[in-house]
Order: sequence, then structure tokens, then C-alpha cells
Amino acid sequence: MPEGSVTRRVGPELDLNRPSDARIYDLMLGGKNNFEIDRQFFAELLKLAPEIPQLAAENRRWIAAAIGRMAAAGVRQFIDLGCGLPSDHNLHEAVLAADPSGRTVYVDNDVTAISHGQALLADDRTTFFAAADLLDPAMVLEHPTVVDAIDRDRPVGLVFGLVLHTLPGNDQLRGLLDDYLAPFPTGSFVAITHPMNPNDGSRLASFATSIEDKFREYFPRLRFRTHDELAESLAGLELLDPGLTDLARWWPADQQALNPTGAARLILGALARKR
Ligand SMILES: C[S@@+](CC[C@H](N)C(=O)[O-])C[C@H]1O[C@@H](n2cnc3c(N)ncnc32)[C@H](O)[C@@H]1O
Repeated sequence: MPEGSVTRRVGPELDLNRPSDARIYDLMLGGKNNFEIDRQFFAELLKLAPEIPQLAAENRRWIAAAIGRMAAAGVRQFIDLGCGLPSDHNLHEAVLAADPSGRTVYVDNDVTAISHGQALLADDRTTFFAAADLLDPAMVLEHPTVVDAIDRDRPVGLVFGLVLHTLPGNDQLRGLLDDYLAPFPTGSFVAITHPMNPNDGSRLASFATSIEDKFREYFPRLRFRTHDELAESLAGLELLDPGLTDLARWWPADQQALNPTGAARLILGALARKR
């Protein structure tokens, strides 16, 4: 068994009666690794929010740009927490575009993501896969693949793309970020995208709630956050421009892809440096 393979269960077993968030997200990106239950869920989601595939693509575009900014700040090693299935534009490609020796460790606990990620990366010298539960920082940071690939004396880029809403408590969220950053030096980063619900009685809030409710049919602990809740969790870190803001408004005007009204405002992005 190659290093980093599953030697104990780190996530739910394959269950064809439940959609998986990794496979639903893969469908959003136009992927083919899914089952009937995922396609059914995705079709229902699309009825609620036809813009969802565009949002997933925009999320990926933001992550690639965040990698570029972290690389420009001198970061050469990255951990992608909750990486999902391999797709067309993967994070390690942005890392390698910035520096051909840049390192990436992908982490996921979904059985489909694990088997595809491990198979694809088995012989790779710069990009690795660790099957682990991202809500358990010790399990991730002490994983042999992470220990081998990531140098704790150098800054790291920790990427949490659309995964932190699986952690319901705000204090838990802050604690999780602290646990991940603690072993690494100043100049390390967290890059976060997170679904937002303004919870202010607005049309955007009821739209966000309808999507949240749809996901909660299968993922009951999931929790979209308000801008202020996420901002609180990032207190003490240095936010890079333009700060914590929705992905539609994160870009300079000439790079904006989405209409900054409606669903495009449902994902917040933040790039934050450890002081
Ligand atoms: C919505 S996808 C996002 C994929 C990628 N981060 C991106 O933004 O393009 C969420 C991924 O996080 C993974 N995930 C969710 N909870 C996790 C956990 N506790 N440990 C590891 N991975 C997890 C899921 O399996 C899924 O692949």
C-alpha cells in the first residue's frame, strides 16, 4: 500500500443512498464521478439556484488567484484541506505554475476523492494526497505524508475552500485555524472561501436559507455564516486586500466574472496572513 493510503477509516463509508459533497461539487464543475443519488440532489439544487455551477467555477478561480498571491509572498508549500475530486483546474497546477518545485498536499476524507486522488498522484514528486479528517488538525499535521512533504520551519499556505461550513461552532472554527497555524512561522497564510447567509431578512438571506435547507437534508450540521461571524473567526490575522468580501466583489472591476447581485454574493473569500 503506498504511503498515505487509507489504513483506517477517516470518513463515511460509500453509501449509494446518500449524496456526497465531494461528488456534488464535482458535478457542479462538470465532473463525471458521481452516482444517481448525487445527480438527483444536484438536479434539485439547480432548480433552486441555476447559478450554482458558475459559483463553483468562480470559487476555483478565486483559489487559483489566492495561490498566486501566496506564492508571490514567498510561500512554496500548500495544504488543501477538503480538496475534492481531481478536476480541470486543480490547485497544484496553480502552485506549479508559480514554482515548478512548489509542494501541495491534498487532504480529503471522502471515499471517492481519496481513491481518485491517490491513484492520480501515486508517482508524483511534488503533489501528494493524505486521507484525513480536516476537523482533526492533529490527524492532518501528523499524517506521514504531511510530515514528509511540509517543512514546519517555512511558511505554509492552508487552503479551506468551501469546507469550514461543515463546522457549526464559531469558537470551534477559530480554534481550528489556530491549531493549523500554530506549528508554522509568521508569514503563513489561510485562504478561505465560505458560503454566506446574511440572516437579515433580505431576499438574499431567504435565498441562502433555501440552499442551506436543501443541503441540510443530508448534511444536518452544515452552517452558512454571516460576514461578521467569519470576520470574528479571522480576528488577529492580517487580511490582505480587499479583505473579507464576497467573491463577486473580490476582484478588480476588469476581472469580475459574475453579476454582483444575487447568488454571486453567497460565497465569501478571505486571504489572511499569520502575524
Ligand atoms: C465543496 S467541496 C470543495 C472542494 C475544494 N476545496 C474547492 O473549494 O474547490 C468540499 C470537500 O471537502 C471535503 N470534506 C468535507 N468535510 C471534510 C472533513 N471533515 N475532512 C476532510 N475533507 C472533508 C469533502 O469531501 C469535499 O471533497
